[in-house]
Amino acid sequence: MKIAPSIMCADLLRISDVLEDLEAGGADSLHVDVMDGRLVPGFTFGADFVGQLGRATGLPLDLHLMSADPERHLPQFLDCGAATLAVHPEACADPYRMLETIRRAGVGAGLALNPGTPLAALTPYLDVLDVVIIMAVCPGFVGQPQIEACRKKAADLVLDLVRQGRTDIEVVLDGGVKELNLRSIAACGVHKVVSGSGVFGADRGVREQLQAMQSVAKKQRESPINA
Ligand code: DX5
Ligand code: ZN
Repeated sequence: MKIAPSIMCADLLRISDVLEDLEAGGADSLHVDVMDGRLVPGFTFGADFVGQLGRATGLPLDLHLMSADPERHLPQFLDCGAATLAVHPEACADPYRMLETIRRAGVGAGLALNPGTPLAALTPYLDVLDVVIIMAVCPGFVGQPQIEACRKKAADLVLDLVRQGRTDIEVVLDGGVKELNLRSIAACGVHKVVSGSGVFGADRGVREQLQAMQSVAKKQRESPINA
C-alpha cells in the first residue's frame, strides 16, 4: 500500500522544506486537491501553482479535481505534468469522454466517488479507467473523521476488480487516514491511501510521521496476514 500525502494540509509558506521532508520520509506521490468553491465549499489551488509544484519535486502528482464543469479547465491541469488526474462523475457532462481526453494526454484517468455514490457508478467507465478514488469523507474539508463504511466499499471494489481481472486499476482511499487506522485500512487491500492531517497534523515532524506511517504500510506489504 502506497501513501500519498495531501499537500493542501501542508505549511505552504515553507513548501521547499515540506517537499524535502516528504521525499525523505518516503512519500510515494503527492495528492493535490483542487477545489473551486462550487462543487465543494473550499478553494485551493489553480493550475499555475500545481505546475510549479510539479517542477519543484521529483514526486509524481496525483490531481484530484473537485470542481464543477471540469471540462472548462481540464487542458490547463493536463499541462501540469501530473501522473494521474481524477474527476467526480457528478461534475462531468460526459465522464467517458473526459476520461478518454485525460488518457490521450498521457495521464492516468481517474474517477472519485463520494461516500454516497455506489460502486455501480463506475460500471460504464471501466474500460477507460486507471484509478478510482473512494472518498472516505465528504469532500471539501480536511481533518474529518473517516466514514467506516467506506472501507468496506473500497474492499468490495478491490475484490470486484480482481474477479474481473482488472488489477491494473488502482484503488485509492482518500480522507480520514491516520497512523492509528492504517492497519485496518491496509487489510481492505487498497493500493494507495491519501492522508492530509494524518501526515501534517501529527505531533511529530512531517518526515518522522510519514516514516512511521510508511513502516506500518511496509509491514502490510511484507506480511499482509500479520499486519
Ligand atoms: C478531502 C480531500 C482529501 C483531504 C484529506 O476533501 O479530498 O484529499 O486532503 O485530508 P484528511 O486526511 O485530513 O482527511
Ligand atoms: Zn483528495
